[in-house]
Amino acid sequence: MKVAVLGFGTVGVGVYEMLQHAQGLEAGPVLVRPGKDDAPFKVTTIEQIVQDPSVGAVAEVMGGVEPAFSYGAAVLRAGKHFVTSNKALVAAKGIELNAIAREHGAAFLFSAACGGGVPFLHNLSIARESDEILSMGGILNGTTNYMLDAMQRLGLDYGDALKDAQRLGYAEADPRADVSGLDALRKIMLACAVAYDALPTEGLLNEGIESVTAADVAHFRSRGYTCRLLAKGSRAGGEKVSAYVEPVLLRDGAPECAVLANYNMASYEGKCSGPIVLMGQGAGRYPTASAVLRDLGCILHGKHYMLQENCRLANADNSRNEHAYYVRLPAEHAAEIPAESAELDGDVVRIITKPVSVSQMHFMAERLRAAGVELFFAAIGG
Ligand code: HSE
Repeated sequence: MKVAVLGFGTVGVGVYEMLQHAQGLEAGPVLVRPGKDDAPFKVTTIEQIVQDPSVGAVAEVMGGVEPAFSYGAAVLRAGKHFVTSNKALVAAKGIELNAIAREHGAAFLFSAACGGGVPFLHNLSIARESDEILSMGGILNGTTNYMLDAMQRLGLDYGDALKDAQRLGYAEADPRADVSGLDALRKIMLACAVAYDALPTEGLLNEGIESVTAADVAHFRSRGYTCRLLAKGSRAGGEKVSAYVEPVLLRDGAPECAVLANYNMASYEGKCSGPIVLMGQGAGRYPTASAVLRDLGCILHGKHYMLQENCRLANADNSRNEHAYYVRLPAEHAAEIPAESAELDGDVVRIITKPVSVSQMHFMAERLRAAGVELFFAAIGG
């Protein structure tokens, strides 16, 4: 099967290289921006691919919702299979692309969009057929894991850790998607769509690591905690799902503490299987390219879809998940947080809250920030 590649950046180069050696696959034209002349077999319009009868599948690794959606829809309508590593695209348009693919007898797979090289969505899509998925999630962003690990083990400050993650090709073109938790949120949205036939778009909550400081990390270490950014998804009753992202403080010895650098740890709990944990590189050229190639291999073996025909948009409800939080904020605002204990540290106070719901904590933080208060929060042991 000849595969056209849309995009020739970090992942596109990896996909193109891997296609040179993949069984049953062959590299086809590469769509590049006009003026970017160094790509092999380059074309500069999507029509050249749509109208090429020798192209059987298209791998989209450009990122962004447009023009990726228009290109994906066009190739699917031409009956060509479509695989993508693009989280933003699938979170925004996955249901539409799935419908177009099914209508035209073409495949639509996107396992590279969640977990990088970790085969999370494929396993989830198989498990859900025979087992009930009680919950899922984990460390789904390589950039922030790299940064938190570098801040803790190498003593890097936030800015240097981010620069390193960008230099190593882990971060999104706009790294705010990584550090705000949005990238991990999009990934848990996809996992909910695969596991529950429900792609949540309303009521989602994401807290990233933008406000963590070297002093916070040193404080966590002194208390035997490691900070990780975790995504969580589960059913929330009726048609709703719970889906959120937040930093979590984990006691030394918890499995997530052993996840270093750009690695991801994706897990699900099946009612019958119990917990299943998958770990591997969640970002970077070859790990992500390997997932794109895996999807193409699946198509050769007859697997065409990860989303069921009845997958629908859904609301998220994060009011039933409760735990205690660590909150660091200016001392004069201490009274605004329901504290179990509080420790004054110069101008700031480090509070451990009473158990509060995820939605309550995220809304409290939003209200305080709207009033100009700088704070960081993380769930305790999540
Ligand atoms: N920026 C993403 C990450 C790339 O760091 O996880 C892989 O999805």
